[in-house]
Amino acid sequence: MLSTTTTTLLLAASSLVAAQTTVNGSDNFVNAAFKAFTGDQFQKYTLTAAGINASFIPYGARLTNLYVCDQNGTMQDVVVGYDNATQYLHDSETNHTYFGAVVGRYANRIKNGTFEIDGQTSTIPDNEHGGLNPLHGGFVGYDQQNWTIASQTGNSITFVFYDQAQQGFPGDLLNVATYTLTDEPAWISRIVSIPLNDATPIMLANHVYWNLGAFVDEEAVTVLNDTLYMPYADRIIEVDSILIPTGAIN
Ligand SMILES: *[C@@H]1O[C@H](CO)[C@@H](O)[C@H](O)[C@H]1NC(C)=O
Ligand SMILES: *[C@@H]1O[C@H](CO)[C@@H](O)[C@H](O)[C@H]1NC(C)=O
Ligand SMILES: *[C@@H]1O[C@H](CO)[C@@H](O)[C@H](O)[C@H]1NC(C)=O
Ligand SMILES: *[C@@H]1O[C@H](CO)[C@@H](O)[C@H](O)[C@H]1NC(C)=O
Ligand SMILES: *[C@@H]1O[C@H](CO)[C@@H](O)[C@H](O)[C@H]1NC(C)=O
Ligand SMILES: *[C@@H]1O[C@H](CO)[C@@H](O)[C@H](O)[C@H]1NC(C)=O
Ligand SMILES: *[C@@H]1O[C@H](CO)[C@@H](O)[C@H](O)[C@H]1NC(C)=O
Ligand SMILES: *[C@@H]1O[C@H](CO)[C@@H](O)[C@H](O)[C@H]1NC(C)=O
Repeated sequence: MLSTTTTTLLLAASSLVAAQTTVNGSDNFVNAAFKAFTGDQFQKYTLTAAGINASFIPYGARLTNLYVCDQNGTMQDVVVGYDNATQYLHDSETNHTYFGAVVGRYANRIKNGTFEIDGQTSTIPDNEHGGLNPLHGGFVGYDQQNWTIASQTGNSITFVFYDQAQQGFPGDLLNVATYTLTDEPAWISRIVSIPLNDATPIMLANHVYWNLGAFVDEEAVTVLNDTLYMPYADRIIEVDSILIPTGAIN
């Protein structure tokens, strides 16, 4: 069994952010600040720091590989993903695993795909459970968007995605995902979502599948030999039979 890595995940996810400000001409401002995506959405961008390297693609602002040293000093990839990045498109169309992507605008499920804010009802397309609820933002979530690269250095990359009220959500958002590697070694993920005009539910998450065993032997093919330690999570949200939160926190 491998020792665990010191990889850390710093997730700055917003929840239910109500926009208090109105930005006039936000379309023009955002379009001027961030150009729409052009190029190869499956090209891998690799960052490095001491004892760690990680690759990302614009399609979903997605982590595809994360190499850290095992107990013998050999670099191992500890996240699930495709080496051939065009496979992510195929995966979206078939298994739809959301491997390594940013999911949003609303990670997880919304009951019946409807909600009301300020007396206005919104309907989000129900892409799960045979049309009972939306999952991860509807039929085309952030995982399928081509994020623009706003800046890049040897150990950091920033992706942006301008969401113009897609999938029936109210209001426009500017989403910024910055990934940085440090010599700890660590991966730091910061995701910020800025509502530009209307109040809207927002919940973004990194949808990474870890396998700290790195598939090196039979016992590391699955995560069943990994130990999950969550010292600050002593309560859980209760869900119904289709994983919709009931409102109870146990
Ligand atoms: C924004 O636009 C509205 C309508 O055009 C106008 O009434 C308001 O004064 C503008 N606000 C700012 C801060 O420019
Ligand atoms: C590390 O090296 C030891 C001794 O050679 C070996 O038994 C073990 O399987 C290695 N661990 C990994 C993860 O390769
Ligand atoms: C990342 O680490 C792996 C494993 O050592 C190596 O094969 C790969 O070339 C590295 N990538 C970069 C860009 O350094
Ligand atoms: C990657 O997968 C695509 C199909 O999604 C295939 O057409 C292509 O040949 C593959 N590339 C490599 C290098 O295997
Ligand atoms: C995708 O689904 C097929 C058919 O159910 C399965 O054989 C395959 O293992 C799945 N792939 C992944 C990556 O889950
Ligand atoms: C469920 O969603 C539909 C629209 O898809 C809406 O007409 C209906 O009122 C909703 N039901 C409840 C209980 O909110
Ligand atoms: C992502 O970019 C490709 C072209 O590179 C395009 O075919 C695809 O539709 C884009 N995705 C979205 C959601 O616009
Ligand atoms: C790994 O998991 C398998 C199946 O869950 C179990 O039989 C085995 O004892 C575990 N090995 C270690 C080293 O914990």
